[in-house]
Amino acid sequence: MCGIIGFIGERQAQPILLGCLAKLEYRGYDSCGIALVSDSLKVYKDAVRVEQLAKALPRLDGTVGIGHTRWATHGEPSKINAHPHCDCTGRIAVVHNGIINNYQSLRRQLTSEGHKFASETDTEVIAHLVEKYYQGDLVEAVETALRDVEGSYAIIVLMAGESNLVAARKDSPLIIGIGDRENFIASDVPAILDYTNRVIYLEEGDVVIVTKDEVKVRRDGAKVIRQEHEILWNAEQAQKGGYEHFMLKEIHEQPKVIRATVAEYMAETEPVFDLALADGLISTMLILACGSSYHAALAGKYIVEELVGISARAELASEFNYSTYIPTRTQAIAITQSGETADTLRAIRRLKEAGCRVIVITNVVGSTASRITDRTVYIRAGPEISVAATKSFTAQLMALYWLALSQSKVNIRRLDSLIMGLRQLSGKVQQVLDNEETIVEYANYLSQYDNAFFIGRGVNFPVALEGALKLKEVSYIHAEGYAAGELKHGPFALLSSKTPVIAIVAQDNTREAMLTNIKEVKSRGAPLIALAPEGDEAIEELADQVITMPPLDAIFSPVVNTVALQLLAYYIAKQRGCPIDFPRNLAKSVTVE
Ligand code: BG6
Repeated sequence: MCGIIGFIGERQAQPILLGCLAKLEYRGYDSCGIALVSDSLKVYKDAVRVEQLAKALPRLDGTVGIGHTRWATHGEPSKINAHPHCDCTGRIAVVHNGIINNYQSLRRQLTSEGHKFASETDTEVIAHLVEKYYQGDLVEAVETALRDVEGSYAIIVLMAGESNLVAARKDSPLIIGIGDRENFIASDVPAILDYTNRVIYLEEGDVVIVTKDEVKVRRDGAKVIRQEHEILWNAEQAQKGGYEHFMLKEIHEQPKVIRATVAEYMAETEPVFDLALADGLISTMLILACGSSYHAALAGKYIVEELVGISARAELASEFNYSTYIPTRTQAIAITQSGETADTLRAIRRLKEAGCRVIVITNVVGSTASRITDRTVYIRAGPEISVAATKSFTAQLMALYWLALSQSKVNIRRLDSLIMGLRQLSGKVQQVLDNEETIVEYANYLSQYDNAFFIGRGVNFPVALEGALKLKEVSYIHAEGYAAGELKHGPFALLSSKTPVIAIVAQDNTREAMLTNIKEVKSRGAPLIALAPEGDEAIEELADQVITMPPLDAIFSPVVNTVALQLLAYYIAKQRGCPIDFPRNLAKSVTVE
């Protein structure tokens, strides 16, 4: 997820482009750039934040220009990979948000036709395609170029000698801001709210030609009309997409993130994890991480053992770093959203020194973890602003499901149904989000307590840990996650009418045991809320309240259960008036040991 901007008017474009870009940095901030046209095309870009670029830039003339702030997906954050990207003539510049899936084959084709590529990005192919098809009409050249492109895009094209900007969108958002003798093209509303609140939302497949006085929208080569809207939000509200907090926005982004991450793995022609389990050299999988990523790692242990049938261990990186034993014949997987957590980086380096092959699952292209490991598997969660991890957690689970399914030993029919289950997961998560009101109700009830227990078994034990961590992080309630079978070995002593218990029940071989645990909890007078598949009458009878989960294969239940617990933690924290996005004493990434 990147942020793109275009401006055409009578005023100098440079300060306007930089101001708008700064408002889009919540979409990506690892590098940025602008391009303007006065007598010729001028491009300035670097692997810095917008503020630093603004300081470094000379004063540039020009009343038309484009800009970009990046969240790298293809090609590490660097000056050469930053946008805008140009063609061979240096007359055409393109900014892009999205992923071109067939960029490698297009690149090979264009190279064979004599085009020279400067960057590692997928985006640069668009500039060369427009150059290839340009016969004097920029709109036509852009429309023809896009017929060759597969994937998602919001693009803006600027060309020296042309008096307009041409933009298009497919599976990426793009809006037009209507001004007085000036117009804007942007990824999102926050960018332009300082200049106008008159907005047109472009639809899938739209191509738009923008001059300072006119906006023309086309679809499949024909003119179409798009309605203008008046925006009533301020810029900060808009950055949150109208949600009150980034955490809630990021929770609601999960259906899209899950779809994007799974689609990426399914589109890959090369093996995503490239593991050589078949040749028997590997006997153990060691999965290392910290915080929420560790809970994903622990869920990964259960998923790998069930589907691949080899032993898997999940370890806290901070603990692993002080263990003297480094296992042999081990495939190591490190999980880190930021790619910068010091404990995890140290564990990776220790394993590398011991000769282990290490794969990292991360969200940040170009992060340290992606540089020091043998292979990087990206999740496509986009920037996660809220300190409490939400969408990155479920996206990490997608990577672990893919790892397990790609190495799976289950029969073909089971494998087909699991692949189908994975495809349907984003829809199942949407069902949980649609049931938000029920969760708000239970959250208001739970917000009166200062303690809470989360219990689960099997692949939902890590979900109990994650649910407790979310509640701790954002509401400051003292919450504990437990393997349900462990309560009787101590924690029972704490149970009373003041310690609500959230029990996570799945339709798997642990259900009967969970029923027993719920009875034990109830008999000690503790309030009990259960998360359970819809229609489970026994649970409905036993629990004080039930948050019903959509029916799905139990191996996937950690995804829907976690989303429900994220919402529960969010609304409890909201009811208690906590600073949800930036809780005290915490940081999004801890880069010191
Ligand atoms: C903490 C964050 O600092 O680090 C958590 O607050 C996160 O949300 C943990 O889970 C691990 O971070 P990462 O980036 O290595 O997954």
